Amino acid sequence: MTKTIRIQDVAQYVGQSVNLQGWLYNRTDKGKLQFLQVRDGTGSMQCVLFQRDVPEELFEAARQLGQESSLSISGVIRQDDRAPGIPGGYEMGVTGLEIVQLAEDYPIQPKEHGIDFLLDHRHLWIRSQLQWAVLRVRATVIRAIRDWLDGHGFVNMDTPILTPAACEGTSTLFATDYFGTPAYLTQSGQLYNEAAIYAFGRVYCFGPTFRAEKSKTRRHLTEFWMVEPEIAFCDLDQLLEIEEQFVSYIVQRCLEERAQELELLERDTAPLEHVTPPFPRLSYDEAIEMLAQIRQETQDPELGAQLEIAWGDDFGSPHETELTQRFDKPIFVYGYPTVAKAFYMEPWPGRPEITKSADLLAPEGYGEIVGGSERISDPGLLLQRLEEWNLPREAFEWYIDLRRYGSVPHSGFGIGVERTVTWICGLDHLRETILFPRLLKRVYP
Ligand code: 4AD
Ligand code: MG
Repeated sequence: MTKTIRIQDVAQYVGQSVNLQGWLYNRTDKGKLQFLQVRDGTGSMQCVLFQRDVPEELFEAARQLGQESSLSISGVIRQDDRAPGIPGGYEMGVTGLEIVQLAEDYPIQPKEHGIDFLLDHRHLWIRSQLQWAVLRVRATVIRAIRDWLDGHGFVNMDTPILTPAACEGTSTLFATDYFGTPAYLTQSGQLYNEAAIYAFGRVYCFGPTFRAEKSKTRRHLTEFWMVEPEIAFCDLDQLLEIEEQFVSYIVQRCLEERAQELELLERDTAPLEHVTPPFPRLSYDEAIEMLAQIRQETQDPELGAQLEIAWGDDFGSPHETELTQRFDKPIFVYGYPTVAKAFYMEPWPGRPEITKSADLLAPEGYGEIVGGSERISDPGLLLQRLEEWNLPREAFEWYIDLRRYGSVPHSGFGIGVERTVTWICGLDHLRETILFPRLLKRVYP
């Protein structure tokens, strides 16, 4: 019986007769020759039918194959540098073909389609080469995240999805009815991780996160995946060192393992090669000054208006884009105003108007990919903040307890998987980095 192989392993089978199971991606008819581009999930390969070498019915049957027909195809593997595909450089001289299902009128044609059409057909769109490449980079990002954290003594925690309270502001909560009491889809596993560090020292959670983001931007999903490490006995400086090691590792793993996918995406990888520790650090105050200067110098009044910002405001994407374009590595902006950030952040010593927080902004205009901070460890201050932020004390009793029994300085951060993949792949919108994006106006398919 002929061995069924996967296209990614084709190099091992040159000269051998093998079988492939996959789908027809494209077909070119040259009279006596037909070229079938077949993909099998691991790659794609050119399969050549020569009229003289196969039975007439088989040759005719191949002519009827529509795009995305499923098939089982067999033949001899030959090396040929000109053969297109992924990995490319190999083709099959076809001797046998079995049609599993004949597909007709596949809706996605090799031409430009509008984004709404593509998103409506996301269930089919993911078969396209570029989407395939992006989602494979995503899988590698996730592997790299887990490998680094597991290899550095972090214990994985699965924090709850249904929660009684807000972590990242009450305006983006998705509420649901929990047997008569309101509950919310999680915005972050951080608060639970803060409990877990007292049992495990270093932990991380990795799961879906929900935010009812009412704005339509290139950087926001309503359901996204976030990794949140949390560390006991760790201050902001130590946290930033961990972050820069971790993020550099993720990027370098993608460069090593996904070169082929990044090439398909036409990603210029030179800027990614610079992503090594240490990353520049810029205070919020310095960033505000830098933006004021950019506003002064710009000839573009529209940009000037977009960059308008008062001390105390959080940055929007125009600000982040301008700031990051001035550096060739990701940058940390630290010391954000207390009013702009979350209730749990430790104040800066001697400057209560700012926090021991830092965002990591990706270069080339990609903006925030990580948010992190040192957390308040004093129970009195935490109580005061809950009150100032108008958060219900009852829902946070357990969280206050953590400050009563063996409280320690601790810090953590959250990195968004989709924003990281968007940056690494060099995309302009994060909707292609997740299997089925959930956006302001989209929960289908
Ligand atoms: O800055 P954020 O809101 O921080 C937190 O949630 C903290 N609890 C994390 C922590 O300290 N444990 O979110 C962290 C990251 C952002 O930098 C961004 O990459 C991503 O999560 N993110 C989103 N990604 C896609 N769509 C959205 N709506 C996102 N909101 C945040
Ligand atoms: Mg943030």
